[in-house]
Amino acid sequence: MIDFSLTDEQKQLQQLARDFTRNEIIPIASEYDQKEELPWQIVEKAHEVGLLNMSVPEHAGGLGLGMVDEAIIGEELAYGCMGIYTILMASELGITPILVGGTEEQQKRFLAPLVEKPALAAFALSEPNNGSDAAAMGTTAVLDGDEWVINGTKMWISNGGVADITVVFATTDKNGGHKATVAIVVPKDAPGQSYNKIKHKLGQRASLTSELVFDNVRVPKDHILGGIGDGFKIAMKTLDKTRIPVAAGSVGVARRAMEESIKYAKERAAFGKPIATFQAIQFKLAEMAMGIETGRLMSLKAAWLVDQGLPHGYESAIAKAYCSEMAFNAANEAIQVHGGYGYVGEYPVEKLLRDVKLNQIYEGTNEIQRVVISRNLLK
Ligand code: CAA
Ligand code: FAD
Repeated sequence: MIDFSLTDEQKQLQQLARDFTRNEIIPIASEYDQKEELPWQIVEKAHEVGLLNMSVPEHAGGLGLGMVDEAIIGEELAYGCMGIYTILMASELGITPILVGGTEEQQKRFLAPLVEKPALAAFALSEPNNGSDAAAMGTTAVLDGDEWVINGTKMWISNGGVADITVVFATTDKNGGHKATVAIVVPKDAPGQSYNKIKHKLGQRASLTSELVFDNVRVPKDHILGGIGDGFKIAMKTLDKTRIPVAAGSVGVARRAMEESIKYAKERAAFGKPIATFQAIQFKLAEMAMGIETGRLMSLKAAWLVDQGLPHGYESAIAKAYCSEMAFNAANEAIQVHGGYGYVGEYPVEKLLRDVKLNQIYEGTNEIQRVVISRNLLK
């Protein structure tokens, strides 16, 4: 009934991502964290080896990888740097509404260019005044002849300003609630867009986060995904899927925290012996291992449900909340294992903590995951 083994193809993908992390991500992670700059060469190299925009379906020229594949790869990439992983993950997030709500023709039109060259997508739902209450969006889309005219401000958009396409969620009637919402694909070159880079983030500083301003931005009518009233539901169905890569990435961060802790605990001596001989340290490692194994299983279960076409929103919310909290605790304990040295940048563990804090906030805060979970229990 249950098979925990990876296919040969999945083992190859895992190895590819592991090598990419070791050779390309880890050597530059600290530098780009300090510079607060998106390493575009990673986007180019990921494109070269097939780790970019992997969910683009075969009919649009892509690899059409499934969610289990994405989760396996995500754990490996986030092991190297959660911020750099977010660049690639947010692009998959930008692609997903087109898979959820777009026609096959729209998928070919909007997604084929994303595999032909190194290019990113973005997902613009959150606004300055409403993040959790996503249906309360104030960005407007008005149909004028054969074009949508978009006005408003989106906030905290990963890849915002550099993405070739952004799926923008807007309302056709500010009093219409979710039933007035639309999802519209906006190309980077549509005039009227500007962006402001958000600086001084606590972590994930290699990932670009922007405020996006839309000032009478016009796009053709057929850039809408689904119809009027579908925007919010497309966003929800998207997030039901894309919270899984956040969970998988969290597992990767936790694994890094554990491996760094094991290494340090064997090297560092106190009271005449390695600190790894103290049970207090051993139990921290055991706790990390328990969380990683549990979190990985939950992420893969949720991913498997997606790939089977089965309901998965409840499981993905559990995976996202559980894994991000587990990883935060693992990173925190990794600093403790490293003592004073863990508190400074000489070792990678302080960055793990700063980076993974965001996993409890984006793609729906963990309070919102609990709203989703409890609504499922009570319905
Ligand atoms: N799938 C399909 N439909 C859904 C749905 C789902 N998962 N969830 C809700 N709906 C439907 C409901 O059935 C309802 O439809 P009807 O009126 O036709 O019955 C409609 O949508 C409204 O549903 P609710 O009344 O439940 O909606 P709500 O306003 O109470 O909000 C919420 C629910 C779960 C709190 C939602 O607003 C939410 O998920 N908020 C968090 C937003 C979020 O996750 N943002 C992430 C931004 S992206 C990001 O952060 C990316 C990154 O960092 C890289
Ligand atoms: P608020 O909604 O104002 O919440 C504030 C606090 O109140 C939180 O603790 C929250 O959990 C709690 N709260 C709110 N409502 C409830 C409730 N009903 N029950 C219990 N508690 C509640 N968004 C995008 O659209 N695209 C992106 O690419 C993207 N990337 C991001 C990158 C970064 C670096 C960051 C920081 C954010 C990003 N976001 C993105 C936005 C992110 O999804 C939101 O920050 C998040 O959904 C929370 O919204 P908010 O910040 O407005 O907080």
